[in-house]
Amino acid sequence: MLPSILPPSATDHVPVLADDVRRLLEVRPGESVVDCTFGAGGHAALLAADLQGRGRFIAIDRDPSVRTYFESFKRRFGSLQPRLLRGELSLVLEQLAANDVQADAILLDLGVSSMQLDRPERGFSYAVDAPLDMRMDPSADMSAADLVNEASEKELAQIFRRYGEERYAKQIARAVVRVRPLSRTSALVDVIRAAIPAPARFGEGHPAKRVFQALRIAVNDELGSLEHALPAAVEMLPSGGRLAVISFHSLEDRIVKTFMRDAERGCTCPPDFPVCVCGNEPVMRAVSRKPIRPSAEEVADNPRAASARLRVAVKVWWRAGLPLRRVSKRPSCGRARAPSCVRSILFAAA
Ligand SMILES: C[S@@+](CC[C@H](N)C(=O)[O-])C[C@H]1O[C@@H](n2cnc3c(N)ncnc32)[C@H](O)[C@@H]1O
Repeated sequence: MLPSILPPSATDHVPVLADDVRRLLEVRPGESVVDCTFGAGGHAALLAADLQGRGRFIAIDRDPSVRTYFESFKRRFGSLQPRLLRGELSLVLEQLAANDVQADAILLDLGVSSMQLDRPERGFSYAVDAPLDMRMDPSADMSAADLVNEASEKELAQIFRRYGEERYAKQIARAVVRVRPLSRTSALVDVIRAAIPAPARFGEGHPAKRVFQALRIAVNDELGSLEHALPAAVEMLPSGGRLAVISFHSLEDRIVKTFMRDAERGCTCPPDFPVCVCGNEPVMRAVSRKPIRPSAEEVADNPRAASARLRVAVKVWWRAGLPLRRVSKRPSCGRARAPSCVRSILFAAA
């Protein structure tokens, strides 16, 4: 275990898989680091310490309340002249990439922070009564109450099923539509309890857990953000640059896994094409096939780490100015490259 750089009272969010993130991102003095999900700055402090006073640090977060944590981070690591860019991370990364900003190490620690979960007024928790809000950025247009009160029954059922994997999605959506408008978390919890069969109320975990997760993902467009952020992050990495992503549920992890696998494979031709027509080369190399999970000791110390999965990949290919996917002369999928006349026929047929 690496020694912690943070005194225990310095943050109320405990950074998960911190030793693995630090070991695998391998930040060296003089490098540039982007922490896309700054939160309380726990991971940021560890990575900044590895810069040993030389390099550049950019922090991103859409929640304005992280400013106080950033101010103390800045006091501590002032020699790095850190900057906090407040905004949705995929948009910020796209802007940085468009401005040719490079980063040697990029971290995404997805989801909500303990500060967001534990502050009742933010409305993320089913355990306390609060306004039904759930916005990571309180200035965003749509709160959970807006969604619950305005979406159709069919849309709500889809959200509960898709993002919460909720078995009783239909029944809950029907019950919500029958009693709305809803404005408090406790009112939604009561509706969920009443809508599901009695044995399910006492099953795994809190009966409202999956619906609350689903609403939070939808309100903050968490999956859409991740899908856009990954290519932008890779575009910012030079050859040898590292990308680490910590996800907390299977929907996020599936997106990260698929993205890294495709970036590693290069060739995107359908399997039944006899020759490679895309010519794409591998862009990333994953450091491990399976995601890295927290140890039993970490979960005992910090139960919120239980579902965390870390995936790290290294950029293996880069030519300045080129987009992530492009046709090159040398395919690396092992198939012969089709001559241009064959390519046009295959494309016409596809
Ligand atoms: C799990 S916490 C990160 C904790 C941080 N690594 C630490 O050690 O304190 C996630 C943070 O990322 C922010 N966040 C999540 N998704 C975001 C997005 N799409 N754009 C910008 N910020 C986001 C949240 O507001 C929250 O502060």
